[in-house]
Amino acid sequence: MNILFVAAECAPFVKVGGLGDVVGSLPPALARLGHAVRVFLPHYGQINDERFGIRRYDEFKMAWNEGIANVQIARIEREGVSFYFIRGWPFFAPHEKFVYSADEGIDVGRFLFFSMASLELVRHLSESEGWRPDVYHANDWHTAAVPFLLERVYATDRILGKASTLLSIHNMQYQGWGVGWHLARAGLPEVNHPLLRVMDKTENLMAIGLTYSTMLSTVSPRYAQEIATPEGGYGLDGLLHARLLHLKGILNGIDTEQWNPATSRQIAAPYDAGSLSSRSENKQALQSEMGLPVRANIPLIGAVMRLVDQKGPEIMFPAVRWTLEGNDAQFVLLGAGAPHYEHAAAQLQQDFPGKVAVQLGFDEPLSERIYAGSDVFLMPSLFEPCGLGQMIAMRYGALPLVRDVGGLADTVDDQTGFLFKDYQPGALHFVLGQALEMYHRNRQGWQIRQQHAMQRDFSWQRSATSYLDLYRQTIELRQAYA
Ligand code: ADP
Ligand code: GLC
Repeated sequence: MNILFVAAECAPFVKVGGLGDVVGSLPPALARLGHAVRVFLPHYGQINDERFGIRRYDEFKMAWNEGIANVQIARIEREGVSFYFIRGWPFFAPHEKFVYSADEGIDVGRFLFFSMASLELVRHLSESEGWRPDVYHANDWHTAAVPFLLERVYATDRILGKASTLLSIHNMQYQGWGVGWHLARAGLPEVNHPLLRVMDKTENLMAIGLTYSTMLSTVSPRYAQEIATPEGGYGLDGLLHARLLHLKGILNGIDTEQWNPATSRQIAAPYDAGSLSSRSENKQALQSEMGLPVRANIPLIGAVMRLVDQKGPEIMFPAVRWTLEGNDAQFVLLGAGAPHYEHAAAQLQQDFPGKVAVQLGFDEPLSERIYAGSDVFLMPSLFEPCGLGQMIAMRYGALPLVRDVGGLADTVDDQTGFLFKDYQPGALHFVLGQALEMYHRNRQGWQIRQQHAMQRDFSWQRSATSYLDLYRQTIELRQAYA
């Protein structure tokens, strides 16, 4: 099957969160199963072309904003997948050192351009290389215009017409508002779908994608249920109800080669489920690196997260504060995000010298040392479409303590970690207390949980097969309506 991914992030080239991990590892997993997979990405200025060997490949012209845009394509082959990087003035210029702008309105314009240029690139590749997708796999609001453009602009196109599209929802909270002005300016058709009009969502890119895509998926079965409720739908649950038959929840995997404590070169002492005692060396190395007292037998609580409402810092800071007031424990946090949460993190560090170490910023090697060195890994999310942190933590034998929502509920149980329900600092504090109690009083039980956690299979193999089934279903459904 020929599969095309269009997405805003893809590790290792560019990653802000889990979307980057997924787009970095699902395509190679599909390629390993014998499929021809291509990934189109924006050629952000911050991508390090030299490091990855990304080379100029081609260019073509495209009508845009009452003029002609020169679209430049760079390319690289990696793990059996072809990656194409798209740039076109003034979008994704080499000097532009950000992935997302602080202004969503600007991003709506940038990603609309990217979506349109992606389709023109398909046309171009079909002529130059004879390649065209059997299925277009768009991801989140950034590329949700792809199914819309295929229907409204290219319906009768010889190459792009009658396309089968899948839109994966990685996060329902981000939707991309205000596309009408950009469509008009680019000379593209307006959004006139009756359902979107009635629901007053013609400006909302996620809503547009949900309406026009042949099939929909999200990144865990539990989240598929949650987004169809008023609490989880962020205003789009009504729209989703019209499409429930076409929505599927497929759990993400993790790249088990990249995230492997037995072979990692980032951590002090590699280990596996059979050599858990080596973890203690990693813990002490982490304590030392973070400037905490080096003590092998003190419980170390770790967290790696975007510091945004979704991840629950609002309940995490008070709960950790109460825990540290009454316990001999340490807390290590790596994160970046909203200034008020970064400030709260710095305050916590100030209030608990020798117990709390905070690193603000994005640092993948350090994240790995936290997974390898923590005893408990916190993810107290308000909502969590899938979550990769808890799966990586389990692979490294750090027991996840998570809220019972979304993909966290689908991946963690009381054999491998700890769960709490209410979105309250008290509920998190209570379960964290139980975890510390177990750490001190039941070492054997703790180790059994670590072993269970490390033995769970979170590889992409299983999910890649589910995606293939879904692609087939998508193609059949599209043909039925052709
Ligand atoms: P989300 O995509 O919502 O941020 P996920 O749990 O799906 O949440 O994925 C987060 C990914 O980003 C994980 O691989 C995690 O280790 C990584 N990550 C998050 N924040 C940081 C950070 N500050 N530094 C390094 N890695 C981070
Ligand atoms: C989003 C979600 C996260 C999910 C990731 C990859 O960033 O917040 O839960 O794991 O996408 O699908």
